[in-house]
Order: sequence, then structure tokens, then C-alpha cells
Amino acid sequence: MQAVTRPLLILGAGIAGLWTALHAAPRPVILLTGAPLGRGSSTAWAQGGVAAALADDDAPALHAADTIAAGAGLVDEDAARLLAEAGPGEIEDLYALGAPFEKDGEAWALSREAAHSRARVARVKGDQAGAGILAALIDAVRQAHHIELREGWRGEALLPARERGCAGVLARDPVGGLHRLEAADTVLATGSLGGLYAVTTTPWTSQGQALAMATKLGAVIRDPEFVQFHPTAIDIGRDPAPLATEALRGEGAILIDREGRRFMPDIHPDAELAPRDIVARAVHRQIQSGAGAFLDARAAVGDTFPDRFPAVFRACASGRIDPRSQPIPVAPAAHYHMGGIETDLDGFTGVDGLWAVGECASNGLHGANRLASNSLLDGLVFGRRAAQRLREAAPRSIHAGHGAAAPVLPDIALQTLRGAMARHAGVERDKTGLEALLAVVDQLETAHGPASALIAARFVALGALRREESRGGHHRRDFPQPQARPAPTRLTLADLAQAPANRILEAAE
Ligand code: SIN
Repeated sequence: MQAVTRPLLILGAGIAGLWTALHAAPRPVILLTGAPLGRGSSTAWAQGGVAAALADDDAPALHAADTIAAGAGLVDEDAARLLAEAGPGEIEDLYALGAPFEKDGEAWALSREAAHSRARVARVKGDQAGAGILAALIDAVRQAHHIELREGWRGEALLPARERGCAGVLARDPVGGLHRLEAADTVLATGSLGGLYAVTTTPWTSQGQALAMATKLGAVIRDPEFVQFHPTAIDIGRDPAPLATEALRGEGAILIDREGRRFMPDIHPDAELAPRDIVARAVHRQIQSGAGAFLDARAAVGDTFPDRFPAVFRACASGRIDPRSQPIPVAPAAHYHMGGIETDLDGFTGVDGLWAVGECASNGLHGANRLASNSLLDGLVFGRRAAQRLREAAPRSIHAGHGAAAPVLPDIALQTLRGAMARHAGVERDKTGLEALLAVVDQLETAHGPASALIAARFVALGALRREESRGGHHRRDFPQPQARPAPTRLTLADLAQAPANRILEAAE
């Protein structure tokens, strides 16, 4: 049956999905979210805030320059400029919508985070930026007449258009029924792949599903090897691991070993505020060496901790740590994926009818290492741009073909994968380990079929194997130096066939 459909399908309800949905008006939107609104997205857990050039001594050009420097040679400079220039306006609009950013009199209250040359991070209730912003967005979405919400609906596969491109989604409703939702335009906003790792700060359900779905229709995956590890996840055995925001280090908290010795000044002139990849590697090596790593906020924050960092304080309390009087045990945790589905600066994937925004997308903004607190802003700026293009998109006739749900990994297999990813594609990698990881993926795939988590893991492993250098979040023990002329990685589903013995391509054909 031929359908000329105007509704826009959006999968995912973090900051990027919700902002895109709001700005797509008057175009009707069907918004699918696998969990109830507000749950299951990394946005809700973001602590630091939103980076934007809001201070009198700041300027978008400085914000763009910091973004480009942190990204270690692989940032798309147009993306960085667009982000930085749009930043202040996005904060004003969110504030007008009800996001309770803190003010200092008439001025914005701004925190300092690593690799920013200025205090530039607009915050909400100390360390609750994500939750505060998400609450305001959810209120707005619930009131928006152009948005039809389907809570508890998960995208299982994209529907191919018989002509070319994407024609919608095969979705599972909350009681398990499968539905074909046809649409001229589909936006993937499903977030991270941190859940592929044993230690992560993201919801463990975020397993890079969008990468697997999009590549089956021909999308390209850019820079999958660049996974950012946050240096100070609180190491109290919780899964996912709670975060101790970088803003604590911005306030003067220091990193020490179990003897109380501060270790960052010997490693980088900016010490605890060095770029995130450098701090994460230092913390990782401390732990490997047995010296331990702890975030000590006793002098810098002390008794004001519960008021100024309530979310971190609660997380510490859940592990019987009192950060007013004790150093916090920390470890690096998979936190953000710089890579993702390749898009242009308006979220278009190059596959007709298919768009991607937020963490599952990659337009080159973050390069090899994302600048702290640029991710919420990424969702806002590029979500709005995608919405603008989608408002103007011409109607498209589609004939939807067949889409099949991917197999699901049983929990025990998922835990095997998460352990192997942490061991072999973590803060430090090498050829032997990455090949061992691919062998684990092969075994799991033989046993359980080409699950989306396995496809996403294979993209990370293959990207990491092919990048024979160290840069930003990707550190190869066997290639510790950067190459002179870096280029982005671009992989398709067909490239995975060249990785050691696998069946993904056969299954997709
Ligand atoms: C943090 O608050 O440390 C995290 C901020 C970010 O990941 O951008």
C-alpha cells in the first residue's frame, strides 16, 4: 500500500529527541520512548550542565576553540562554530521554558570544567542539570498538541522503503505486540552505547541499538572507536555507576592515591582539569598499579557538599561514603560515545527519510574527545537544526518493505560482552585484546544471532583495531603516538565482514 505520510517518527526521549519533537511543530510527531518519559535516558543523569559562552569575559569563538582543541584534531570546525554560536540562545530558550538554571544576580552562575578556558557551564541545583532540564522539556512535550506520545514503545528495526531509504519503524508496544509504523521521516535519538561496557555511567539499556538499525539501511558509522571514559565514576559497585561531576574538580577537589598523594600535577600542567581522556588514563593506571584513585573534596567543598552537590552526596551515601570527611573512591566508566551514525549538520544520515540527533549521531562535533558539558548543547543545537529541516521537508511517497526485529542477547551473554568490552576496548587497547574481543563477539553471535548489541560492539572494536594511533579517547598501547594526518573513521555494515569470522553480513543479506 502506498502512503503519503506527514507524521514524523522520533525514537528516543532524551534532550535531543524532545527538543527535535518540540521544534518540529506544526508537523505532527509520533514520539516513541522505550521507558516512561524521564526514565531510561542519560540526559536525566547529566550533572555538570550546559556549556555556553554566557560570561562577560567569554565569546563563542573561545568556546569553539576549546571544543576544537579538546577534540584532538578530528573536530569538524563548522560544527563547533555552529554549536558555540547557538549556545547562549539555547540556554535563554530553555530558561524561558522553565529549566531552572542558577543565576548570580542578573548573571548566569557558571561552573568551570576540564579543558574549558573559562567558567562556562550553566548549572541547575548544583549538580542536577539533566534532571532539571528534562523536567521542563517533559512538561512542554506533554502540553504540545502536535506530539503523540507512545511511552513504553521500543523501536525494533527500521522499515526499508521499497524505492530507497527508510519508511518508518517496526515497534514493540508495552505488552509485546509488534507494529509497523510508516513514516516519511524517522529520527533516531536513542542515545549512547555505554551499556555495552561493564562499568558505565549511562543506562545499561543503551547499547548502540541505533547503530545496528541504521546501518542495515546503508547508513555510515563515523568514529566508533572514540568512547569517552569519565575519570570519576563513584566506585561503589553500583551498575550503572553514579558520577562525581567534573565540576567538583572545577571547585578544587583533587585526585589522590590511597596514601593521600596527589598524582595529576606530575602528569599534566592543568592537573585535575586536564582533558578528560588524560585524567581517565591516569586514574585507570593508578587503579591498575594498585595505588588506588580517590576524589578528595574535603578541603574544596567540605561541609557545603550536601547543598552544592546533592546528587553526588546522595550517591556517596548509598555506598556509605561521606564526602565531607572521606575521599570518594573513583574509577573510569564509559560515559559518552563521540562516534555514531554519520550525519550532516542538520542530522540527515544520507539515507532517504532517516535522521539522527544526539549521542547516537556523529557530525564530527566532538572529534576524538568531547569537551565537558557540550553534549546537552549538542542535543539542543543539532536537534533544533534537524527539526527546522524536517519542517521544510517535502512530502515523500513511500512503500514500506519488511523489517525484522533483531535477536535479543540473553542477560548472561550481555554480561560476557560487557566484560570483554571493558577489558579490551576500554581506556587502553591493543591489537591482541581487540582481536580477542572480536572472537568473543563471534562466539556470542554464533550462539545468539546478530543482536544489535553485538553489531554495535563490532563497530567499536573494528574502528579501534583500524586506528593504529593514539588520539583523544582512543589509546593504543601498541601505537602510543598520534599520526600526523588524522582522518575520521567511516565504517558500513559491509566493512564488518572483513573483521575476523562473523555472520553479520550474511544475516543482513
Ligand atoms: C560531569 O558533570 O562531569 C559530566 C559532564 C559531561 O559529561 O559533559
